Amino acid sequence: MVRNTVRSASSADPTVPGKLLRLLFHDCFVEGCDASVLLQGNGTEQSDPANRSLGGFSVIDSAKRVLEIFCPETVSCADIVVLAARDAVEMAGGPVIRIPTGRRDGMVSAASNVRPNIVDTSFSVDEMINLFSSKGMSLDDLVTLSGAHTIGTAHCSAFSDRFQKDSKGKLSLIDTSLNSTYADELIKQCPADSSPSVLINNDPYTSFMFDNQYYRNLLSHRGLFQSDSVLFNDERTRKQVEDFANDQVGFFESWGQSFFKLTSTGVKTGDEGEIRRSCSATNM
Ligand code: HEM
Repeated sequence: MVRNTVRSASSADPTVPGKLLRLLFHDCFVEGCDASVLLQGNGTEQSDPANRSLGGFSVIDSAKRVLEIFCPETVSCADIVVLAARDAVEMAGGPVIRIPTGRRDGMVSAASNVRPNIVDTSFSVDEMINLFSSKGMSLDDLVTLSGAHTIGTAHCSAFSDRFQKDSKGKLSLIDTSLNSTYADELIKQCPADSSPSVLINNDPYTSFMFDNQYYRNLLSHRGLFQSDSVLFNDERTRKQVEDFANDQVGFFESWGQSFFKLTSTGVKTGDEGEIRRSCSATNM
């Protein structure tokens, strides 16, 4: 049922897979994979600026509605988020992965938990390693899961730190680790006065395909975020970036393992949490 929902949503809107995959990351890193990111209300995770550009909520809600008709109060929203992201990757051409279910939904969602647990594009490799290792994830997992940026889009503000504005309001490149032709294309698409709703493809070449193009882009200095580029610039991560750029099968194998770890982060089982009837609110 989740797969069918993701399939029809993705065929109507090719941006859906990217949204579902990012939603999973932001769910699992804050309070564990417990659908805390779906709870609505004042001061919930959704109200933090880092989560304002998240999407895909309506797809999760649709899947939940169908599930509540056929098997009420059985499938958690946390499992739906995981399954939807897994299926989204597969539908975008990525690997087929088996993932256990049985996660329960959390009762807590606080905006104040978001910043300390979500990576910012300004992070150094060390800062990313520290955050990932606090979730039980390795350097390899960091490089592998960053490969998610082979699909999806970003707002101009997500990489504006790589440019500076002159007195006439014209942008120029300050981050020399970015390819200058690519930088010019980005400036064209995201001029200083561009609307906040402009979206740029994370991967300029195969935007909607889940493949190893992200790593090829890093090799040619076309990582969109600073946090992408540093993976190629740092000696500890460069070798893995090069390996994945040359070996999509190897990337897919690693993706399966790292995705499994990501979706196991801080999972609630047994008496913890609940199975929500509606994904945007706790049952009480
Ligand atoms: C490691 C550090 C990471 C940083 C700093 C980072 C940061 C970002 C930012 C700033 C955006 C653009 C948001 C926007 O402007 O709309 C983005 C998009 C995205 N991120 Fe990441 N991310 C990271 C890791 C991950 C991981 C581990 C995943 C999933 C496993 C992921 C999946 C995505 C996806 C799929 C998109 C596109 C979303 C869409 O199309 O709406 N990211 N990321």
